[in-house]
Amino acid sequence: MAMKGLLLSGGSGTRLRPLTHSGPKQLIPVANKPVLIYALEDLRKAGITEVGVILGLNGREQVMDRIGDGSAYGVNVSYIDQGAPLGIAHAVACAEDFLADDPFVVYLGDNILRYGIAPLVAEYNKGQCDAVIALQRVSDPERYGVAEVDERGRLIKLVEKPKKPKSDLALVGVYLFTTPIFNAIRQIEPSRRNELEITDAIQRLIDTRYFVKHHVIQGWWKDTGMPEDILEVNRLLLDDLVPLVQGTVEEGAILKGRVSIGKESVLKHGCTVFGPTIIGENCTIDAGTYIGPYTSIGDNTHVSEAHIEDSIVIGESVITCRETIVESLIGDKTQIRSTDQKLPKGHRLIVGSGSSIDL
Ligand code: DAU
Repeated sequence: MAMKGLLLSGGSGTRLRPLTHSGPKQLIPVANKPVLIYALEDLRKAGITEVGVILGLNGREQVMDRIGDGSAYGVNVSYIDQGAPLGIAHAVACAEDFLADDPFVVYLGDNILRYGIAPLVAEYNKGQCDAVIALQRVSDPERYGVAEVDERGRLIKLVEKPKKPKSDLALVGVYLFTTPIFNAIRQIEPSRRNELEITDAIQRLIDTRYFVKHHVIQGWWKDTGMPEDILEVNRLLLDDLVPLVQGTVEEGAILKGRVSIGKESVLKHGCTVFGPTIIGENCTIDAGTYIGPYTSIGDNTHVSEAHIEDSIVIGESVITCRETIVESLIGDKTQIRSTDQKLPKGHRLIVGSGSSIDL
C-alpha cells in the first residue's frame, strides 16, 4: 500500500494580519520559500508522491497557482476543498475519499521541521501500530496539543492547549494515520474553540485501544503562527544556507559570510551584504545599503541606502530610506522611502488593517 500525504493549507491566519490579507499564511516565504513548499518537499523526501492539499476559503487560487499539479515538486497533487476552517480533524474527514485505505501523513502547512518526516515514516514501517505522532519538548506547552506519557513510555493522554499542561511534550503538526482515524473523528464533538480537534480524535484512538506510537523528534521544529515565529524560522533556515551567487556583484560591493544571490540581481559598488542572507532574483542593492545578517529579500526588490537586519522582505518592494530596519516582516509590493519634504514634519504612513509599526 502506497503511503499518501495530506497537506493542510486551510485555516484563517488571523494572527498574521495584514500579511494574510493578500494570501494564506502557508505561502509566507521564509528564506525566500513558502512554508508550505518545505512541507511538500518533506513529503517527497519521505517517498510520498500522492498528496492531497486541503484548501480553505482564503487564498485557494494562490495555493493552486503555486503548487499546480505538483510535478514541479515530484508529486501528484489532488485538491480538496474544506470550506470553513472547522478543525484539523474536519479537514482530515474531508479527505476520506482521497485517502481511502492507505496509510497517510497529515502535515500542517504552517509547520516546519528541520529534519522533515522521514523518522515518522520509519517508525511506522517498524510495524504494528495504527498511528504515529511526533512530539517535542517546549517551554510554552499551553500553545500546543500536549501529551502525557507514563513512566513506561506509554502515551496516556493528549489535551489541546491545556491551561495547566501536565507535561512539556508538545504535539508537532505532523501525524501518521491509518483508516481507524476516520471512525475516531466521527465520534468526537467540537471543542471549546468550536473545532473538531485532531488531538481529541487521537485520544479517541487511544481510548478505543488502537496503538498510537509516539516519536520525540530531533532538530528544531516551529509552528509559524505568529510573526516572531516566522522571523525565528528565517534565522534557523539561514543558519543552514548554502551560499550561491547567481547575480552580479560589482567590484567594491562587500559580501561577508554566507550569502545567496538570485539570477539577474545586482549588488552595486559600495553596498554591504552580511551573511547569512538570501537575496532573490532581479533585485538591485544600491551603494550605501547594508543588508544582514539573518535577512531574506524576495524577488524584484530595490533597496537603496537602508540598513536591513534580521528581517524578511517578501518581495516586489522598493526600500529607499536612510533608516535602520530590524526584526521586521515587510509584505509584498511595499514602498518605504525617505523624503526631502520638510513640512509638515512626521512619518507619512499608508498601512493596511492589522499592521504593526514600532517607530
Ligand atoms: O503546530 C502544532 C499544533 O497545531 C498542535 O500542537 C496542535 O495540537 C494542533 O491543534 C495545531 O494547533 P494550532 O492551533 O496551531 O492549529 P491551526 O489552527 O493554526 O492550524 C494548523 C494548520 O492547519 C494551519 O496550516 C491551517 C490548517 N487548518 C486548520 C484548521 C483549523 C486547516 O487546513 N483547516 C482547519 O480547519
